Parts: sequence; structure tokens; C-alpha cells
Amino acid sequence: MSTNSLFEPFRLKSLNIKNRIVMAPMTRSFSPNGIPTDQVAAYYQKRAEGEVGLILSEGTVIERVSSSNDANIPHFYGEQALAGWQKVINGVHSAGGSMGPQIWHMGIMDNHHSGWLPGQPFEGPSGLNRPGNNNGNTMTDADIADAIAAYGRAAADAKRLGFDCVELHGAHGYLIDQFFWEGTNERTDVYGGKTLAERSRFGIEVIKEVRKQVGEDFAVIIRLSQWKPADYTNQLAKTPQEMEAWLNPLADAGVDVFHCSQRRFWEPEFEDSDLNFAGWAKKLTGKATITVGSVGLTGEFLAAFGGESSQPSSLDELMRRKDRGDFDLVGVGRPLLADPHWVQKIRDGRTSELKGFTKAALGELVME
Ligand SMILES: Cc1cc2nc3c(=O)[nH]c(=O)nc-3n(C[C@H](O)[C@H](O)[C@H](O)COP(=O)(O)O)c2cc1C
Repeated sequence: MSTNSLFEPFRLKSLNIKNRIVMAPMTRSFSPNGIPTDQVAAYYQKRAEGEVGLILSEGTVIERVSSSNDANIPHFYGEQALAGWQKVINGVHSAGGSMGPQIWHMGIMDNHHSGWLPGQPFEGPSGLNRPGNNNGNTMTDADIADAIAAYGRAAADAKRLGFDCVELHGAHGYLIDQFFWEGTNERTDVYGGKTLAERSRFGIEVIKEVRKQVGEDFAVIIRLSQWKPADYTNQLAKTPQEMEAWLNPLADAGVDVFHCSQRRFWEPEFEDSDLNFAGWAKKLTGKATITVGSVGLTGEFLAAFGGESSQPSSLDELMRRKDRGDFDLVGVGRPLLADPHWVQKIRDGRTSELKGFTKAALGELVME
């Protein structure tokens, strides 16, 4: 099956990208004290030289004392960290690429294996990072207001530094998602509630603040996932109606693109249809969507952390869905972590040169 339609340009507000391939955000923990190094800049520039359409950065944290559980995860605040990000975006632009930072607050976390802890306890909607596991503080109204302002400042800084868009990390059980999920949001105030739509208030306020800071013409992406690290089978929205009641208010608040995280993109979201999450999000909101999850690989990414290797796999099913109009853009994670030339190899049909993925690639910033 032809991959030609992956190589059509895509325009939306501030985004003007040469193909449909998006480098998925991947935490690398190579930024000591939260400062992205020249090596980090070179790593992203290599992916731009490799003709990735849009690069999304690893999650980079907002200005709250406990927004991170790892000293080597980059900040998106403070003079030194932002100077590091300036080098990153300059390098990507010099190679003809486009990029947005993934703005992140981790919420309540497990303590990191390094033993490092932030200067204050973790914070989240109810002190929980999974049902029954308390490891931090319940955020007050003042904490929530300050966090929302910090998301907004990060987005404004992304625009000021010259990034092409911004992505909010609203997935995978981190802060925004901890508000969405009833398993971690037990609040009885306006930020809690019985329905997913009610528990979306924090996310909506973050999006509105980000939109206010960046203006109408700057592309805002949000990453969402039904699954949680604590429960891969979780569905925040159990029906298309619930999904509509969740996503449309997010779109109204200012989201341009929904980045729909699945572990395997081919898995249907609901019974009686083969549409995946990105397919439903596009159908229900009319917004552009990004699909992601094991594109071009045999195994999924969480198993990869446990050491499972993946081999290259066919893109036929991806292209069937893409050419049916299910989604606009395609997120690719591990193949691009391990190989900056993946896009060119796909475009040129050099499938025998594709590398697959082994855990060893996580130990370095692969440059070649
Ligand atoms: C090393 C690694 C780090 C990741 N870090 C993030 C992250 O910071 N933010 C995020 O939204 N997803 C993160 N992910 C998930 C990826 O963005 C992507 O959704 C996942 O790897 C599935 O895509 P793939 O099968 O193409 O690798 C990470 C994945 C990997 C492998």
C-alpha cells in the first residue's frame, strides 16, 4: 500500500509542516537540573534533518515546585532552561523542521528510583496517583490557580521563543488526566464531579488560559489517553456520547488538534465500529487529530520499558485508516528515538534498512 499521503503537507494556523509525521513526545531525562543541553538540541535537530514533519518535545515541566519527579527532566521556565530551548528550536528551524514543546505537570507521582524528590510534596486533585495510593497533597484553589497561570506562561514562552505550536500533556495519568479520571479525582468542589464532563473543568481552564496567552492564530494541541499506567483497559469515555461531552468543551476552550494516545493505534475504541480514538475524536469534534501507538512496530511501548524488543511492521493498516480520513497526522515514537532517518527510509521504501526497537536505545540520545 502506498505511503504517499503521509508526505502531503499540512497547514493549520501557525503550523505549516511538510508531511504528516509527528515525532511523539518522549521523555529522555538528559537535561541535568532541568536545563536542556547542546546534546539535546543536536538530538532534535537530527530528527528535523531527517525530515520529520512536526517534532513534539519530550514532556517539559511548568513552574510549580513539585511539577516533576526527576531532576533530569527539562523545565520550561527559568532563564537557563529557556535559553536551552531557544537553542533547540533554532536548530530545528535551521534544518527546516517544525516543533512544539509538550507542556507538562506530572501531578502525583511515585517517588523516582534515583531518590530525588522535589522541594515540596507532589500535588494533584486528591493526593492520589492511582486508586488507593496517596503520595502527595490535594491542591487548594490557590494551587490550582497558580498551576493554570504557569501553564499559560509556558505556552506564552513557547510562542515567544519561536516554536510552531504547543502541546498540553493531558494524558497518561499525569496532572490534567488525574483531574479527568474518577480513580484519582475525589473532589467534591467544582473541579470534581460524577461525570467526565464535570471533571474536565481543570483541563478546560488550562486550555482557556493557554489560548488567552498565545492568541487565536497559534496552534494548540492536547494529548489525551483513555488508558492509565495503573489501568491499561480504562476508558474515561465509555460511549461515543460521553466522548463527545468530554471533547467538545475542550475544543470550545481552544484546542485545535487532539493527539489521541493509544498503545496500539489499530485497536477500536467502542463496539460496532473499527474507528480508533483519533477516528472518533475527529468524527465527534471536526478537529484535526493525531493517531499514535506502535506505528511501524510489532510491540507496544510500555512492554519496551520492560525490555521487549520490537521488529519493523507493515504500515498497510495505518494507511487504510489514514486514507479513509480517520486522522490527519501520525505520531511515531520509538522508531524516531532509535533512528533519525526513519521518515526518509519510509518515504523511499528502504524497508530493509528499518531498525526496529530495543531497550538499549533508551540509554543514549541516538544521533545516527
Ligand atoms: C522513552 C519514552 C518516553 C516517553 N515519554 C513521553 C512523554 O514525555 N510524554 C508523552 O505524552 N508520552 C511519552 N511517551 C509515549 C510516546 O509519546 C508514544 O505515545 C508511545 O511511545 C507510543 O508510540 P510508539 O509505539 O511509536 O513508540 C514516551 C514513550 C517512550 C518510549
